[in-house]
This record gives sequence, structure tokens and C-alpha cells, in this order.
Amino acid sequence: MQRRRFLSLGAALALGPLLTRPARADAGHAAMGHAAMGSAAAREGLPAAADFGLPAGLPLPGLPRLANQARSGGFDGELIAGEARLPLLPGKPATAFWAYNGQLPGPAIEVFEGEEVRIRFINRLPQATTVHWHGLPIPADQDGNPHNPVRPGEEREYRFVLPAGSAGSYWYHPHPHGHTAEQVYMGLAGMFVVKSRQDPLSHLPEQWLALSDLKLDAQGRVAANDDADRMDGREGQFVLVNRAWRPRLVLGEGERQRWRIWNVTSARVLKLALPAHDALLVGSDGGLLAAPRPVRELLLAPGERAELVVTGRFRAGQPSRLLALPYARGKMMGPEQTEAIDLMEVARGAATSAAPLPETLRDIAPLPAAAVSRRVAFSEDMANPTAMFLINGKTFDMERVDFVGKAGEVEEWEIDNQADMDHPFHIHGTQFQVVSRLDGGVWRAEPYLAWRDVVNVPPGGKVKLRFRQDLPGLRMFHCHILEHEDAGMMGMLDVRA
Ligand code: C2O
Ligand code: CU
Ligand code: CU
Repeated sequence: MQRRRFLSLGAALALGPLLTRPARADAGHAAMGHAAMGSAAAREGLPAAADFGLPAGLPLPGLPRLANQARSGGFDGELIAGEARLPLLPGKPATAFWAYNGQLPGPAIEVFEGEEVRIRFINRLPQATTVHWHGLPIPADQDGNPHNPVRPGEEREYRFVLPAGSAGSYWYHPHPHGHTAEQVYMGLAGMFVVKSRQDPLSHLPEQWLALSDLKLDAQGRVAANDDADRMDGREGQFVLVNRAWRPRLVLGEGERQRWRIWNVTSARVLKLALPAHDALLVGSDGGLLAAPRPVRELLLAPGERAELVVTGRFRAGQPSRLLALPYARGKMMGPEQTEAIDLMEVARGAATSAAPLPETLRDIAPLPAAAVSRRVAFSEDMANPTAMFLINGKTFDMERVDFVGKAGEVEEWEIDNQADMDHPFHIHGTQFQVVSRLDGGVWRAEPYLAWRDVVNVPPGGKVKLRFRQDLPGLRMFHCHILEHEDAGMMGMLDVRA
């Protein structure tokens, strides 16, 4: 009850002070006025991570799988969204979350290409919700659009078949109109992995790493969003890995492991680095690349996933840790990240010989020239508190179709970030290929082919991408900073048969 009152008070106060902020045209980041100061003062009241006594260095928790109840083929599972109290802080009462099946993150779903998935979903939340299957090429009416809410106490079935070629690392999360950010930060998110029976890396040991954000108030409760969260996208005191703070993963000396990494934070752009080890990028959102690529750093935007092959080298003088290096994303109110975030310890295990790594992983054919091209411009209007985050000058409208497309036709979209913050673009129902990026005023062809459903677009940057939607229906596209999505930075593509 307490929390609900707090939330509605928060909503009433939403963005009030920002009215005073001048329009973008005549205001740089230096001219933020007292709105920013107010927020800084408010944030000083937020306890620091160390104040909670959350233990670090515990073994990395696994991600328990959702049980398959199918008697003959396919996958039958049940997901219940509801309140859950989970012991988090030592010596304190349990923390109230919203969770799928009482688990944080929600149970991981692991299925094979070609299988039919049937999920009975029950909503025991005090709000309407949906389950969106982020990145999966499934029918629009099964994809948890905000147009198909499951009301409190109601249930529905989600049913879809995973097509050949869809093996990859996906996730599921709520997508109700205007409440996605809140439901995700309260704890609702789960991982979803589609496997292939011809996986060239199936012999490698796998680690699944779900990176999420947790913001607690002084009482140790999940904090409501403040003005800075609504503007910049929420960040908390903790970036967790599989619900643990700075856990410890064991990597053998010389061992090769396959890591699937999810950025399920609301808003953080994570610039990942593993200074003591060798890492090869082998997969993106929609599965394997054509061939492994050595990487020193990996930028993972909110909603995005990657697969790495990591070899245990334990280079002397380098921290054997997974870090998120400083990354400035043009925040309007909150301070930028100026220090590396320590995400996880990589502890030395017994010497193990490296499993062989194939030189090629799979074929990816470039999508042909597009039949249609469109422009999607992100902009911010700080003078307009009801329509602050815009796509092509408009705020999201549940009744408005922004583009009409045709199933099976290749489209080329140019995403143009005319705003001051990074905005990660995401589209439902398919995977795209980035063709080129405008970076520092120069267009650069994308150096390799990859299937993605999220691409970060920095201020002043542009990205050209191509996709095909094979199924008809209404598809959302939006900024994956969930607060921006809720605030209207979203549009709709109606794909006609
Ligand atoms: Cu994970 Cu509409 O998004
Ligand atoms: Cu999505
Ligand atoms: Cu955004």
C-alpha cells in the first residue's frame, strides 16, 4: 500500500520541475538550470551500494530453466507474474519485487528451433501487463503488444513456432502501455534461448549472464523512478549479474567458455571489457556471426545481447574481472559514468585444454537492396513535458500506424538521432542487418554481417539498417531506454500480407 501511494505521488510529480528547462535549441548540457540541481540533491539521499551490505564475490548463480511440461513434443510452460518477497539484504526484511514465478530474473526458457512453444500466462499483478518475446520472429498477436493487455487476475496463452535459423539469445519482458519501465525495474524479465541442433559451438561450456540494474531506497525497497530516471532512463546503485552483486565465475586456465550476455537494464549502455582474457565475439541478438571476431571492448545497449568465446589467460597486471568501462550517453540530469563498474570476478580454475573453435560459424547472406526506404528521426523536446521524446516529431499513439509495409519485402531504414542522448533503436518481430553508420560525420560500411534487433544510435549519429518482416501484423519500434519508450518514443509498422 505504502509503495503504491509512493508511486502515484511520483507519477503526479512526474517531470514537473522540467517545465523550467529551456528548449533544446538554445540549451546545451551546461544550461540545465535548477532542475538538475534539484535532482542531484535528491540523489544525495540515495544510499550508496556499499551501505546495503550486499555480499560480493559469491559464486555466480545459474539461471534456473522453466520446466517443460509437454508430454509429446514442443514446449509447454507456465508463467505467473506476481508480487514476490526475496531476501536480498543481510539482516533486513525481504525486498518486495514483481517477478515471474517468484524468480529473479524470471525462469529462463530454453527451446530448439522448429519447436512449438505454448506458455500459459497468469497475471497476478495489480496492473495490466503483457509478455513480449523480445527479438523473436513470431506472430504479432502472440508478441505481447500493448494492444493486447492481460488484466489483473486474467490469463492467456502465448503460442508460437520458432522457425529454422532463429537460434539465438532473446528475452521476455512486459510491454503494457505506459508501464513497461516500472514493471521491468520491479523485476519482470526473463531470458529466452533458442538452440540449434547444428550448433557449431555446442561443445563449449556455456555461461549465461543477465546484466540488470537495481535501485534501492534508504529502506532497501525497490525505489520508484525520480525525474532523472524519467529523463535519462533509470540507473540504480547496483548492476547485478544473474541477481548477484559482483559474483564470481570460475574460468579454467586456458579454458574456452561460451558466454551469452544480456543487457536487461532499463537504460545503461554497457561498454564491457575483460582485460585479463581473450574474447572473441561469436554472436549478436539473433544468433551466431559468420565467423568469430576478436574484441577488446563490447558495447551492449539496453535490450541488446551478445555471445563471446572467452579463453582463460589471466594476464598478469590486469584485473581478472568483467568490467563496464566509463561511457557517456549524453544524460540530461544524472552524472555520467566516469569510473569502470566492476560487474563480476573471473576466478582462476584448474588448467583445462581449450576446446577447438571452428573458423566459420554459419552463413549469413546480406539482405538485398530494399524495395522501400524510410527515415526514423529521434528527437527530444524538453520544453514539452507531455511529448518530450519523439519519433519523426510525434509522440506514440496506440491508434496511429506510422508506416505500412508488406510481408516479405526488404525495407531499409535510416535511424537518425537528432537528440542529445544515445537512443537504442529496437523493432519487434524480426532481426535486421546494420548496413552502415554515420559516425563523426563519416559514413562507414558495417565491417561484418550480424542479425540484430537493437542498435545504439549516439547523438548526431545515423544508422542504416535492412530487414524483412515475414509475418503480417502490427509491429512496434522504439527506443529501448524503457522510460523513453513509455514516454512516447515509439511508433508502429503495420505489415500487410
Ligand atoms: Cu524489449 Cu518493445 O521491446
Ligand atoms: Cu522487443
Ligand atoms: Cu531513448
